[in-house]
Amino acid sequence: MALKVIIAITVLSLSIFVAYQLVDRFDPDTVKGKNVIITGSSTGIGEQLAYQYARLGANILITARRERQLKQVVEKCKEIGRKNGKYHFISLDMLDEGAPLKLINHAEKTLGSIDYVILNHALPYHLGEWLGSDDNFTALEKTFMANFNSYVRIASHTTRLLEESRGSLIVMSSTAGKMPMPYIAPYSASKHALQVIYLLKWVDWKRFYLLLHNSCYLS
Ligand SMILES: NC(=O)c1ccc[n+]([C@@H]2O[C@H](COP(=O)([O-])OP(=O)(O)OC[C@H]3O[C@@H](n4cnc5c(N)ncnc54)[C@H](OP(=O)(O)O)[C@@H]3O)[C@@H](O)[C@H]2O)c1
Repeated sequence: MALKVIIAITVLSLSIFVAYQLVDRFDPDTVKGKNVIITGSSTGIGEQLAYQYARLGANILITARRERQLKQVVEKCKEIGRKNGKYHFISLDMLDEGAPLKLINHAEKTLGSIDYVILNHALPYHLGEWLGSDDNFTALEKTFMANFNSYVRIASHTTRLLEESRGSLIVMSSTAGKMPMPYIAPYSASKHALQVIYLLKWVDWKRFYLLLHNSCYLS
């Protein structure tokens, strides 16, 4: 009898806990008028984030390499966003060491302050076994430059601005950054490296979010 009561209380407590976690406490007004930078926003998750932020009334600066796609995303943001909102893009290649600073300088010029920085861009996978070949090393170096070095540079250049605005840094990682994945060693390694540097440097910073994949995050 006592065991049944304990089990019932445990199940009830767990159900209440899970239900509480599922309550949506997001207030859309907290985003209205905020200045948001989204990288890797010419397509995929970044593009959809741009539309979502525009819909919520944010001002946005998007970046990726393909200018034509970025222009189209900005045009759509203008259609769905606030009439007096600011919508800008800058075409940059994150393999270029100077790109992170250019991005932040452009953000200060076009948006003024910065409230959210969403680091999302990633090089397409170089699929294949690790054989220590020249191709493997080229892929490793490029992947780390785009998926890791540029993230750390952008975050470092924006820390002061985010502190001033009490803004947030959001970093797109992957489950491949939590467990090793075969045939995508450079990608998986770059995402593991992100976990370490961000957790070491910014984990005590209360407005930092590390997105593991599309639906869950650590904060
Ligand atoms: N999709 C998933 O299921 C999934 C799962 C786990 C994690 N993620 C992570 O989520 C993020 C977005 O994924 P996604 O699927 O939306 O990727 P995606 O569709 O491949 O988009 C990648 C974006 O990054 C940009 N990009 C690529 N190389 C770049 C470079 N050298 N310089 C500047 N921008 C560059 C691309 O634009 P341009 O080609 O125009 O430069 C594009 O806008 C990535 O960090 C990825 O690792 C995705």
